[in-house]
Amino acid sequence: MKGSERLDYKAAGVDIDLADEFIRRIGPVAASTRTDLSMDAIGSFAGMIRLDGNRWREPVLVACTDGVGTKLKLAFETGDHSGIGIDLVAMSVNDLLVTGATPVAFLDYLATSRLELENHTAVIESIAEGCRQSGCALVGGETAELPGFYSAREYDLAGFALGVVEKSEILSPDNVIAGDWIIGIPSDGIHSNGYSLVRKIFEDRNRFPLDQPLRGMKEPLGRVLLKPTRIYRPELAAALAAGGLKSAAHITGGGIPGNLPRAIPKHLGICLVEHSWPVPEIFRQMQDIGEIEDQEMYRTFNMGLGMMLVVSPDRAHALIQSLEGGGYSAHVVGWIDAEPGLRRVKKFDPPTPVTGKCGSIGTRKSTAIPRIAVLGSGRGSNMESLCEAIDRDDLHASIACVISNNSKAFILERARCRGIPAVHLSGKTHPGNESSALQDVLKHYRIDAIVLAGYMKKLSPEIVEEYRDRIFNIHPALLPAFGGPGMYGMNVHRAVLRSGAVFSGVTVHRVDEDYDTGYIVAQRVVQVLPGDSPEMLAARVLKQEHDLYWRVLEKALHPGSA
Ligand code: GAR
Repeated sequence: MKGSERLDYKAAGVDIDLADEFIRRIGPVAASTRTDLSMDAIGSFAGMIRLDGNRWREPVLVACTDGVGTKLKLAFETGDHSGIGIDLVAMSVNDLLVTGATPVAFLDYLATSRLELENHTAVIESIAEGCRQSGCALVGGETAELPGFYSAREYDLAGFALGVVEKSEILSPDNVIAGDWIIGIPSDGIHSNGYSLVRKIFEDRNRFPLDQPLRGMKEPLGRVLLKPTRIYRPELAAALAAGGLKSAAHITGGGIPGNLPRAIPKHLGICLVEHSWPVPEIFRQMQDIGEIEDQEMYRTFNMGLGMMLVVSPDRAHALIQSLEGGGYSAHVVGWIDAEPGLRRVKKFDPPTPVTGKCGSIGTRKSTAIPRIAVLGSGRGSNMESLCEAIDRDDLHASIACVISNNSKAFILERARCRGIPAVHLSGKTHPGNESSALQDVLKHYRIDAIVLAGYMKKLSPEIVEEYRDRIFNIHPALLPAFGGPGMYGMNVHRAVLRSGAVFSGVTVHRVDEDYDTGYIVAQRVVQVLPGDSPEMLAARVLKQEHDLYWRVLEKALHPGSA
């Protein structure tokens, strides 16, 4: 230190008096966000929130964090900080809402090189506004003064949201089945993603002054670009109240292709109907000015939909009415498809899931009912006969999904008609990892037993091991004769007739690592008649299959019951 020059914290860049004044100013701002769950802080080291025992029986805490990104640069440039805090809250709260949670608390972190009373108070005021919109109490925050760390007059923001959801009401991809509808709720513009590209498109200030509107638009460009992200709390509340909401996606970085698939099971797909929602003008202008490809636009921006809901079709209209009743618009924009991937389609033509007794929906809540997966490669008549047995109450099981390695197999069509999730899974859909994808699907549907009915693939040793003694197959002959590789369908009956055997029949056996060698659970004899063709014999055998399989499964799945 030289001569009389005294070094203190202020000289080093941190003004404690100013910080005290800042805290004095933002105290009432934070207080304005109090909710019925707020508590008077005991001491002031941490924020507290009360969980109301009357509101939640089994409360689950949900936590999210996010920032605003380079949209901040536009706030610095325009000096308008009045919406940036809403963006901050929205980014976390919207992520939290898609779990079905109610936001209850928020904390912020503002970091800057030098505290600026006016600007930074405006930021906190806008955070408080976001909190009020989302029903969160602003229970804490940190303003970090880091001299020389950030460029002059710049700051960064981070936010943390806490929510609560009743455990049994968590929205999850697990609830989604093929045929569910997708409803899109409009965004309020660009929200808080893609701003590196936005700023690049409009970087020439001579051409694009922020205080002037773009051609054909009314508001100045700066205001359009700084429009705060919409907080979807009221929309989600209306949708939850209407019932039928299964899952939801907040459309942020990555756009619809990057976010909607996160709201559905991996083995299902998405069909989006072209032109089914209005794309706001700002996106069109950005695409034109930047000469940006369509695909790039859709994977960078929300393109007019900030929140997407996956809804049971029978509740979709009630849900839309509930949203519209609250003054919010909503568009039916597509459906969940049995084939994985995201496709654009010309018209709305979803399959109609029927929630029959053997479908997964009707029985989802029951724990006593074993959940079975039926695997087949062909017409699926055995699957149908199992469904009929379930409908008659003869077989106490739920077919939680039907899986085929053949996309054209009629068994998938039958499943869809009955509202059963129909999954096509093969080397084509999952190159190199078919077997682990199959395991994932079985896990996803919480399968208790696997029922093979004309499935032309060998199960992997891992699956056989995991479901040992809980995998069944039906074979159209009396094993151990006429079994093994290549012995399926009509080949079996041809071999029986060629051999001159006077009896054939049906075998239900457990599946082990080899072909048709597992423990035989039941057999039924079918007489070979003089003049039988393979088709004639097959028809009589099949009739017995339909009568035998459900009986054997009922016994095997409920040992000990009468
Ligand atoms: C059934 O006949 C079954 O026994 C046979 O495939 C047919 C499937 O018909 N399975 C085998 O040959 C196994 N080796 P389905 O699709 O109408 O149920």
